[in-house]
Amino acid sequence: MPENAASFLETVMREERVFAPSPEFASRARIKSQEEYENLWNEAQQNPEAFWDKIAQTELHWFQPYSQVLQWNEPFAQWFVGGKTNASYNCLDRHLNTPWRNKAAILWEGEPGDQRTLTYQQLHREVCKFANALKGLGVKKGDVVSIYMPMTPELVIAMLACARIGAVHSVIFAGFSAEAIADRNNDASAKVQLTADAGWRRGKQLPLKETVDAALAKSPSVQKCVVLRRIGNQVNMQEGRDFWWHDLMQDASADCPAEPLDSEHPLYILYTSGSTGKPKGIRHTTAGYNLYVKKTFEWVFDYREEDIFWCTADCGWVTGHSYIVYGPLSAGATQVMYEGAPNWPAEDRFWEIVEKYKVNIFYTAPTAIRAFIKWGDRHVDKHDLSSLRLLGTVGEGINPEAWMWYHRKIGGERCPIVDTWWQTETGGIMMSPLPGAIAAKPGSCTKPLPGVIPAIVKEGGQPVEQGQGGMLCIAKPWPGMLRGIWGDDERYKQQYWSRVPGMYLTGDNARCDKDGYYWIMGRIDDVINVSGHRLSTIEVESALVSHPNVAEAAAVDRPDEVKGQALSVFVIVRDAEPSDELREELRQHVGKEIGAFAKPDEVWFTAALPKTRSGKIMRRLLKDIASGKEEVGDTTTLEDLNVLAKLRAHEE
Ligand code: PRX
Repeated sequence: MPENAASFLETVMREERVFAPSPEFASRARIKSQEEYENLWNEAQQNPEAFWDKIAQTELHWFQPYSQVLQWNEPFAQWFVGGKTNASYNCLDRHLNTPWRNKAAILWEGEPGDQRTLTYQQLHREVCKFANALKGLGVKKGDVVSIYMPMTPELVIAMLACARIGAVHSVIFAGFSAEAIADRNNDASAKVQLTADAGWRRGKQLPLKETVDAALAKSPSVQKCVVLRRIGNQVNMQEGRDFWWHDLMQDASADCPAEPLDSEHPLYILYTSGSTGKPKGIRHTTAGYNLYVKKTFEWVFDYREEDIFWCTADCGWVTGHSYIVYGPLSAGATQVMYEGAPNWPAEDRFWEIVEKYKVNIFYTAPTAIRAFIKWGDRHVDKHDLSSLRLLGTVGEGINPEAWMWYHRKIGGERCPIVDTWWQTETGGIMMSPLPGAIAAKPGSCTKPLPGVIPAIVKEGGQPVEQGQGGMLCIAKPWPGMLRGIWGDDERYKQQYWSRVPGMYLTGDNARCDKDGYYWIMGRIDDVINVSGHRLSTIEVESALVSHPNVAEAAAVDRPDEVKGQALSVFVIVRDAEPSDELREELRQHVGKEIGAFAKPDEVWFTAALPKTRSGKIMRRLLKDIASGKEEVGDTTTLEDLNVLAKLRAHEE
């Protein structure tokens, strides 16, 4: 329990409280009042194309101007048609003729405590050199480069080097398994793999190259592999296929002009879970995405040139793509980048970093906040956090109790909190308080950003009554939106545009209160969110069923104090006796198949699974059981009621 649990209850009871920005904060903010926000939002709503046109003209560098702002051929959008730009140019070269040239772009800290600072000019040089190294390996415009690297500056360098030459990066979070890498490499027909010998995580070495070796054995399209020496351990280097990063860099020229790329040239693919087993390669393109993340970064984080920003996400997720790489760097921001775990060598590591670098804006996930609460206030109390002026959250809803702790303990009751709702698919933040303009309500992501037109509808597309919950949709295209699923237009149409006519279906439920504040109410599909990581139930179930002793499996999430949602799986065993050893073996097996973050928190053994007459697993009921609820939901379609009774009795 948190050390100050008693005071939580009190504050949670007053959850309806509203936290308005202080006059001092508002007076210095980019957007200073609710009225100013509303004017901007209305302007964008009335004429979205004119609104984005005005911004795009000045905020991006155009090698060639565009001739049309939006070409909307539902559900396919093209923004800034005919224009040519380059995201790497916008992030780097644009700053080189300004005093930003010598500004720190990245203040990096490795988990063991090593540090590096890269100014914009230094970062530019490294990116140019690595872009030439990629060219030397035969990488051409449009080729897919798969990146499986630790949170080192080279990960950012690799992404920007791809963008510079028009190669498409597919970053795979360095916690994924060899199987998961191979699946993604094959789906994208990746040509080159980038990795490191190993990475640090909680004092341990993650054997990245070893995992990549296993993945490449099953990724026939990958011809070359570049290995960063991060730790210096012994790794297998395959002659003709594998190259050391430092060897390539030694010979590479630092002269590599950014390639003028079509606005709609693909910038990256990022795989995310959907409601079917196969991960979807979300496809983002150049100009619209770049513009959207830059502008939302400036609006939501109220970024000022003297600020030090820190987003604790990993570049393996969309948050890192948008708010470590493309947003902050396009905006000329100075940011902290940290390689490792929040509790290494101790539970105060994040606060130590905040104090040391005097971080002003701090952006993290609710799951981390709940872990800090559990670890106890004493770790926070050791450090001076007075540099902080703004806090943010992302990835899942934040419970009001955690919000209050964040506000009080980290924000010293003076920092606004921006609860940012968005998705891999949306490219950037869609709903969030603008910190100088919109009062926060703990647990609500508040209001849509300018240019975002949400709608809450029932099945069929009818709007719900005010205050009622329904499916959250976005009614108009926006520049940061996904352009499709890699190689699968049908799935794109079916998944996002078929259920509600004319609108983008987010997959989340939400309600909007009388003040126009949005409250996200979880997913409508078979996607679960564990510690801010999106997984589909089917992915986990397929992983389990691939074990020889599993006949059938069902995965559900249930509320958890720290993780927000924990992963429970129900398993029908074959050719073995249920045992604790098997339980552990199955957990490890899922870890191996998907990645350690997906290991189930609990494994329940069962003789049968509750199913509807049409054979669909009733996850809703399993969820109730996993959450320890006595009363389960509606069972009228349940095939065999005995199953439930047996599960309840923990019969194995
Ligand atoms: O369900 C919503 C939840 O995370 C989903 C998107 O996951 P992903 O594509 O992995 O991107 C995470 C980082 C942007 C959403 O559909 N989600 C994200 N942010 C919030 C949230 N739920 C509630 N409140 C949020 N602030």
